[in-house]
Amino acid sequence: MRILLIASAFNSLTQRVRAELGDDGHSMAVVLAADDASVRTAVQRHAPQLIIAPMLRTALPEDIWSQHVCLIVHPGPPGDRGPSSLDRAVQDGESRWGVTVLQADAEMDAGDIWAWEPCALPPVAKSDLYRGEVADAALTAVRVAVERYASGTYLPMSQRGMTARSRPFLRQPERRIDWTSWPTESVLRSLRAADSQPGVLDELLGVECFLHGGHPEDRLRGEPGSILATRDEAICRATVDGAVWIPQARLRRTPGGPPTIKLPAGSALGDRLTGVPEMPAPLELPKSRRTWRDIRYHERSDVGFLRFSFPGGAMSTSQCRRLLAAFRFACTRPTRVVVLGGERDFFSNGIHLNVIEAAADPAAESWANIQAMDDLVEAVLTTTDRLVVAALAGNAAAGGAMLALAADEVWCRAGTVLNPHYRLMGLFGSEFWTYTLPRRVGAEVAAALQRDAAPMSASAAQDLGLADRVMAGSPREFTDEVARLATGLAGTSATDRRITDKKAARERDEAVRPLSVYRDEELARMRRTFFSPDEPYHALRAAFVHKQPAPMRSAEPGDA
Ligand code: COA
Repeated sequence: MRILLIASAFNSLTQRVRAELGDDGHSMAVVLAADDASVRTAVQRHAPQLIIAPMLRTALPEDIWSQHVCLIVHPGPPGDRGPSSLDRAVQDGESRWGVTVLQADAEMDAGDIWAWEPCALPPVAKSDLYRGEVADAALTAVRVAVERYASGTYLPMSQRGMTARSRPFLRQPERRIDWTSWPTESVLRSLRAADSQPGVLDELLGVECFLHGGHPEDRLRGEPGSILATRDEAICRATVDGAVWIPQARLRRTPGGPPTIKLPAGSALGDRLTGVPEMPAPLELPKSRRTWRDIRYHERSDVGFLRFSFPGGAMSTSQCRRLLAAFRFACTRPTRVVVLGGERDFFSNGIHLNVIEAAADPAAESWANIQAMDDLVEAVLTTTDRLVVAALAGNAAAGGAMLALAADEVWCRAGTVLNPHYRLMGLFGSEFWTYTLPRRVGAEVAAALQRDAAPMSASAAQDLGLADRVMAGSPREFTDEVARLATGLAGTSATDRRITDKKAARERDEAVRPLSVYRDEELARMRRTFFSPDEPYHALRAAFVHKQPAPMRSAEPGDA
């Protein structure tokens, strides 16, 4: 079927719908709903048999929905209506939710229902759910709706007579935390419902700022609302019955002042945190601890699990360095397999564009960040005494996707979207991709992936040879399955042989072309881009960070 996706942004869900329905054999096109005119032009041009809106913040023009079947993906169960559905579900502490695919109609979310799918809402951030359980349910419901529509005989269910619950946009006053009376669980619900956007507006250390992310702390206690500690650039803030960790913050823009961006909380608050103690936590935390750490390590049988989880999948220079130190530690342990990757959400999206944008010298920070990333990838590539598995519970892009390809095996949760390319950020790319990508898919496909810069599903990645395993199931089931398979891998005698072969292969490759040559050549092009202010990268990065439309690019990356 010819399907046109209309979306407010080419976000993760839209990418996933495009990739997975494309895998199913449909012919897919996407248009961003900038205005009614661009929607009309796209509909005329593509003459779609079906229109789907995976994520739409505005209403479709009436002439479009009255002449075409337009299916809207609503992140709420049947009867639920309104623009803040998922925010409110998380804020209210719902543990079960759903996604409904309904037909666009005059009244928002009131159209006939083509399909719906229930899902669990574990206590994590809204955006993490949106890319996890909610996206899984959305894809199931969309597929059912498409099949029903294609059958030509299915009659969608009218909402007439159904109890509807319309809820308004969730505004800051309703999100506002009362630190003097709210218990930790309420504080966490508010923080999670606002993460990753819009954050919770608050006042902290004399400034107004938006707080992003919230994780419980089991030991630190203090005056409610006070800042108790920092850890790896997160802040710990006391509640009436405990404390919470907040990893990121954005200062509120002052009238007439420059736009502000979300940063690690330590960077956002800067000197205001002077005197607040840094409270490190061990890399290996006992299971019973309820505290926050963005990198953790634990062992089971002969497997070391190095878990990392960075907001938005972005990895700053310091985060890369800390992860490298943790990886080096993991490699000192008597294990045969090391598994890299968090339990949920993004694997990695490469260098931290916000931290770079906020730096006094963005070119120098880009350069430092890419080298820190390369150091990490090089450490993975040169690990020859054990197997390394990259376990992708969620999406990976650009240098983050290449980090995964440095491992011996790449295991993806079904539903993962991969963007193994750099062009859209105006970069040639690094992270040894000129070695690892052709190694897996051949030079021609590697070049096509860079050129096309298209998102791909986990199963398409497996078909191409970019992924070795794709596992169905929820994020929780994926974690358990990864643990089971990794333990099995470490336990087979064939693994000894694989480790020996891997070492020999690395030595052979090194003799043909040393890793340092790949690194130097990639970095020479990256350096030219970073330190040439006219390169599109700088404007593309600024647009991405400030959530503006990408400017037109005048040159191919690295042409300078
Ligand atoms: N640096 C800083 N922030 C990043 C980031 C990066 N490399 N990659 C993603 N993020 C942030 C986004 O700004 C967004 O922030 P928000 O939640 O506050 O809005 C959040 O992570 C989620 O990203 P989003 O773009 O909404 O997710 P998505 O799943 O729709 O799209 C990508 C995923 C990877 C396609 C998109 O985020 C992207 O293009 N990232 C940049 C990748 C890149 O070029 N890296 C640098 C080269 S190595």
